[in-house]
Amino acid sequence: MSNPRIPRPFFCGNWKLWGTLSDSVALATGVRNAVAAVTAADVAVGPGFVALGTVADKLKGGSVGVAAQDGYWELKGAFTGEVAMAQIADAGATYAIVGHSERRQYFGETDETVARKAKAALAAGLIPIICIGETLAERDAGRALAVVGKQLDGTTSSLSDDELGKSVIAYEPVWAIGTGRVATPAQAQEVHASIRGKLVQRLRARGQQIRILYGGSVKPDNISELMKEKDIDGALVGGASLTVDSFAKIVQQGVTACTRS
Ligand code: PGA
Repeated sequence: MSNPRIPRPFFCGNWKLWGTLSDSVALATGVRNAVAAVTAADVAVGPGFVALGTVADKLKGGSVGVAAQDGYWELKGAFTGEVAMAQIADAGATYAIVGHSERRQYFGETDETVARKAKAALAAGLIPIICIGETLAERDAGRALAVVGKQLDGTTSSLSDDELGKSVIAYEPVWAIGTGRVATPAQAQEVHASIRGKLVQRLRARGQQIRILYGGSVKPDNISELMKEKDIDGALVGGASLTVDSFAKIVQQGVTACTRS
């Protein structure tokens, strides 16, 4: 008999810029039906803003949650184009991804803006999924752990212990996102262990409970090996979350791999 894994595994889709409203509803309801029997993990889908409220309505009362892909820290005002975390919560989301590397790369996000977004998400009752990860140049220079550690500090030091305890961290090496080049389980585990070490140093036992997701070219055929690693608690999935079949397989195989004793 295997023990339930602590922390509870979490698999989150990130649909990025994708799909019509009807595509989004079809994918979300397909995922809900396909993972209905999964009880040993949390699962969420990540639609674009236009579809977020509709998808959340369709999934209401079920076991699949909804994640926004971003959100702003101000509540209202002259911030054309922005969406407040409170609006996201009101639309029915549970999570907000903050600091994704595409936002850092193309939209000027910094650790400071990510920290403000994480804090605002928590204030709105959302769980932030705080993304950190090194570039290939940083890894090749032997600086992966230093870069990730600095990003973790920069995005979480302004959170209270209680706020940090509610958050999810996503380690996404930039060189593995959308490239088909997944980090090896050992490479990922090394970074996850260093993140875990910092969380435990600050929060003691509670640091063991924080979910640390891996992201970057996660597919059905690599999730099992990743989930066998001690400090990999789930995945943030881009491309492979865009079909019901591949995302459901990731969830099912991921759960099986980490609950098997
Ligand atoms: P990918 O994206 O799975 O397509 O590599 C992951 C992410 O950006 O969260």
